Amino acid sequence: MLKYLVIYASETGNTKKLAEEIYKALPCSKKDKAIVDVRTWNGTMDAETYFVGFWANRGSCTLEIIDILSSINHRNIALFGTCGMGNDKSYYASLEQNASVWISDDTNFLGSYFCQGKMPEALRAKYESYRGKCDDYKLDKIMEIFDTAKSHPTREDLQRAHQFVNECCSQAKELMLAH
Ligand SMILES: Cc1cc2nc3c(=O)[nH]c(=O)nc-3n(C[C@H](O)[C@H](O)[C@H](O)COP(=O)(O)O)c2cc1C
Repeated sequence: MLKYLVIYASETGNTKKLAEEIYKALPCSKKDKAIVDVRTWNGTMDAETYFVGFWANRGSCTLEIIDILSSINHRNIALFGTCGMGNDKSYYASLEQNASVWISDDTNFLGSYFCQGKMPEALRAKYESYRGKCDDYKLDKIMEIFDTAKSHPTREDLQRAHQFVNECCSQAKELMLAH
């Protein structure tokens, strides 16, 4: 069994970047860790600690991630991901809440880390086409979010991911020593 397994879903590459950073930061040799795109996941690997990553899709994760989360038992799980919304702790908390309901009670939940991720130009253009047909003030706010998202995940976002990994790994170690 591996020590750590990073599984992620990423449509446009933001969450993949975060996943690769998390993989790099994991404190063990390559033979004890792995990283897998959910699309190629076949359920054959197992690990003491899972880092499961997703992109926010209508405020939650996608079905493939739900399947993985609900199939993990008696392990440690940490969540991570990217979303279009800005640096908003309460939004990140709602993403954690919406995904963690799928995690079994017999696992140890280590926490979550989210950051902003740039959104496709096509989505921006779609919103822009609503101008004049809806509340333009709200639309301007959405456009602002689109524009701040453009540079994310930033170097700082990735550095924070390292810190998150350190915290999760310390927790996992403590749990192991306690048993
Ligand atoms: C169809 C669709 C739905 C989305 N829904 C949300 C959402 O509910 N909340 C949010 O913050 N961002 C949302 N986003 C933005 C993505 O979560 C964000 O750009 C993320 O970083 C994409 O990650 P990826 O590059 O790993 O696919 C959505 C994007 C798309 C294309």
